[in-house]
Amino acid sequence: MGNGALWVDSDNGIISRDIFVSDAIYTEELKKVFGRAWLFVGHESQIPKPYDFFVSRMGAESVIMTRDKTGQIHVFLNTCRHRGMKVCRYDQGNTRVFTCPYHAWSFSVDGNLTSAPGGLAGVPQYKAIYHDELDKSQWGLIPVAKLCNYKGGVWATWDRNAPEFEAYLGGMKIYLDAVMDHRDGRPGGSEIIGGIQKWKVPSNWKFGAENFIGDLYHITSHRSVDMVSIGPSGAGRRDAPVVRREGGKRPPPFVSVGFPNHGHGLIGALPHYEEADYVPQFTLTPEVEQYYEHIYHARVANLGKQKRVLAAVGTIFPNLSFHGMQPRALFTWHPNGPREMEIWKWYLVDADAPAAVKDVLRRYYLRYAGPAGLTEQDDMENWNYATAASAGQEAGRYPYNYQMGLGYEQPAPDLDNAVYTTAVTEQNQRILYHRWAQYMSAPEGGSLHPDANANLGEILARRRT
Ligand code: FES
Ligand SMILES: [Fe+2]
Repeated sequence: MGNGALWVDSDNGIISRDIFVSDAIYTEELKKVFGRAWLFVGHESQIPKPYDFFVSRMGAESVIMTRDKTGQIHVFLNTCRHRGMKVCRYDQGNTRVFTCPYHAWSFSVDGNLTSAPGGLAGVPQYKAIYHDELDKSQWGLIPVAKLCNYKGGVWATWDRNAPEFEAYLGGMKIYLDAVMDHRDGRPGGSEIIGGIQKWKVPSNWKFGAENFIGDLYHITSHRSVDMVSIGPSGAGRRDAPVVRREGGKRPPPFVSVGFPNHGHGLIGALPHYEEADYVPQFTLTPEVEQYYEHIYHARVANLGKQKRVLAAVGTIFPNLSFHGMQPRALFTWHPNGPREMEIWKWYLVDADAPAAVKDVLRRYYLRYAGPAGLTEQDDMENWNYATAASAGQEAGRYPYNYQMGLGYEQPAPDLDNAVYTTAVTEQNQRILYHRWAQYMSAPEGGSLHPDANANLGEILARRRT
């Protein structure tokens, strides 16, 4: 399969440490993975009004997400066409024009260097020193090749021949829905609460992606926070105490679900058609508890017998992970060189939840997550040391082991082109790296479409049970 196979042997669960530390591989993955995949840019609720903007990233590059006066959303590279200066150095705001700090070329929020009549965009002294000859229509901000607003989440790609976003998602769609939808089952209906957390970690970005795609094995890491009981019910870390009626409807068990042709995966339940019984979660805050009980009944009514999944934890290839349970969040693992990533974390709430509910959630989210939360530091510490150790001269000669559960995958019922494993497994990590290797092997300039069944077929051919 070309270069990718040099580093990733997903058939045997062996992966080279080089992919976590090598400068050469990093440079190549920026082009071949981040230059072609669909990437998460932000949420429409961050730019609710005309002329709002939010500065984000795609791979290692800065981009600006804007809303123009007609309400349309755009995403541009944050670089001036004249000499490259970053045209916007704020994190977010509202503006009619992005004026480059260097020589003041000015771009409208829809990316044009040419002003509409009475507009502010343009080139200083255009007539006097460019002699009216510069073709401004050719020198606007560089837009992404494709953009998709999926349930409020704004995604984009640099590959104009990339598959449409929903085809890229494949069977993963129903799990992304569970994150983006209102908790009562209404499509969309969520918003970003507060600002987003951003922090740098001396670790390769893939450690985040692979942890969230399916690492159910690392409970040891969170042992201390489990004992402290920071959950919203005052028990455990996040989970509700399991108080259920005898004979009540229980949720389906958690399994690992992976999409081998797409590179996505999650830990969660298989699709089902009925809500399990309600379990109180926010028992320490009656107002919030009341809200969720009400939402539960609305969900039962809204979804009826429709197919649904439980909120899950997963990764959409390459670097968007989500936490569908509380704290409900989206993460991007931005690459900052092979040995550093910048984590961005967006927190979601039901847009029309009462302010008191949002406030309790905000406090819980901060207590649990992010650079100052009690839980995620555990993960970062592992990834930091793993990255540093992988860069060692001698250590680098020994690959990592991803053999857990190899051969125990089964075809997942009710999902397109998916496999699942009931026991704890590294199925999804193998799927992630197999897809990564396919991107790395496909020549630059080509597009990758999730239309071949080869990965799924190979996995199922190895089945041991
Ligand atoms: S670099 Fe932007 S105007 Fe010159
Ligand atoms: Fe963790």
